[in-house]
Amino acid sequence: MTHQFDLVIFGGTGDLSLRKLIPAMFRANYQGSLGDDARIIVCTRKADEAENMQSIISDALQRFVEPEELTQSRIDNFLSLIFPQLLDLVNLENGWGEFSAQFSGREDISRIFYLAVAPSIYGQVCENLSQQNLVTPNARIVVEKPIGYDLMSAEKINETMAKYFQEEQIYRIDHYLGKETVQNLLALRFSNFLFENIWDSKSIDHIQISICEQVGLEGRAGFYDGAGAMRDMVQNHLLQLLCLIAMESPNKLEPEDVRVEKIKVLKALKPILPDQMNKCVVRGQYVSGQVNDEKVAGYLDELGDFESKTETFVAIKTFIENWRWAGVPFYLRTGKRLKRRSAEIIVEFKSVTHDIYAPLGQKLKPNRLVIQLQPEEKIQMILMAKAIGSDETNLKPIKLNLDFISQENAHKSSAYQRLLLDAIAGNPTLFIHRDEVKAAWRWVDPIIENWKESNRSPELYNAGSWGPSRADDLFEDRSQYWIDIYAE
Ligand code: BG6
Repeated sequence: MTHQFDLVIFGGTGDLSLRKLIPAMFRANYQGSLGDDARIIVCTRKADEAENMQSIISDALQRFVEPEELTQSRIDNFLSLIFPQLLDLVNLENGWGEFSAQFSGREDISRIFYLAVAPSIYGQVCENLSQQNLVTPNARIVVEKPIGYDLMSAEKINETMAKYFQEEQIYRIDHYLGKETVQNLLALRFSNFLFENIWDSKSIDHIQISICEQVGLEGRAGFYDGAGAMRDMVQNHLLQLLCLIAMESPNKLEPEDVRVEKIKVLKALKPILPDQMNKCVVRGQYVSGQVNDEKVAGYLDELGDFESKTETFVAIKTFIENWRWAGVPFYLRTGKRLKRRSAEIIVEFKSVTHDIYAPLGQKLKPNRLVIQLQPEEKIQMILMAKAIGSDETNLKPIKLNLDFISQENAHKSSAYQRLLLDAIAGNPTLFIHRDEVKAAWRWVDPIIENWKESNRSPELYNAGSWGPSRADDLFEDRSQYWIDIYAE
């Protein structure tokens, strides 16, 4: 499908834009998803950047797009869609007249304003857009997670945006929802009879959701130290994955129906009360260590502030209080500078009810569904089977693979590409509604509040490890542990 649109990137020469948005649009363009009349208006408040925009964009493509995707004709074609705009976002005197003039005669075309800027100026930007009469019925804004710092600040931001845009025009992005495997998770759950009847506490022992990273601060100290892993990853990416894995089937695949089911999960999350904090939550911060045989500094050294208590690791045990999930533990974990980059959801099923192999000395492994998001995107079902060529009592786990990426390699896509095209097409299914933001903060806030009140420092872990050892103690049962899918 090709689309006609104006995409405006505020903060167009910033890290998010150059690293993610520009490469995503470049790919969408050479794959034929953009209309002939599409424009990408890249805003900056620096005159030299506006003058040199074409070379800034070319450099970004060289750095962030795979070399085999870059041909001169693709680059030239993409550069013809780029329109630089010098603009002071908060000062209406500065560039806004010229900026608005660019849209005259294009009122009926979809208009997407991507706010790749600090949330503190969302309000001012929205007000300016409104004053310049740029908020047409076809206009949408896209904003990044995390929305706010806690429930109150999130509501303030949402209220401000709501003064100028209808909720249907506000697209809150969580790039995890644009990942191919995450979308496949819904397809897997809701289109296979096989899973329909075993997706509950009767059949599932526990679920693990991990997003482990090897990177550290990546030059984002200012943002990260004010946020920490809880606000940066748990409040959004991890809770969104939890919603998709745990929600009831929507009765239709309409955005509103999906959202209602996700919100029900967030509201059913068991609150973690102060007296359960020790048993259910581990908060860590990395010290120096080795990642991939390379020495790396500790968080405080990287930050240059030795007082910071910001967490770079969180592990949580939680429950969903409804009929489907009563008693099933959900283990969530995320951290920076961990041993391996790996993001996955693991659904571990219960053991067989009567084990006829036990008397023969065979130890059965439980069935697992492994949904891997990173570094590869694939889904595996792990079953027990007879080892080929041996006698019938010799069993071993085998992996049934659904390996999307190797099959679809010819058509590279990224989460941002998918989500940007959805925003352009006006499809909000994979975006976050205001009520989801609210419900997520309601569950997260008391945990952060408790950390603040107790004033305790995070538990330290060596860079290159799997986080504080106490994260292993969250498991209720000795048969449960953080599963390393590469080591199994
Ligand atoms: C971002 C976080 O939302 O997600 C980063 O702000 C994190 O801290 C990143 O590194 C991880 O995304 P991905 O897709 O690389 O796993």
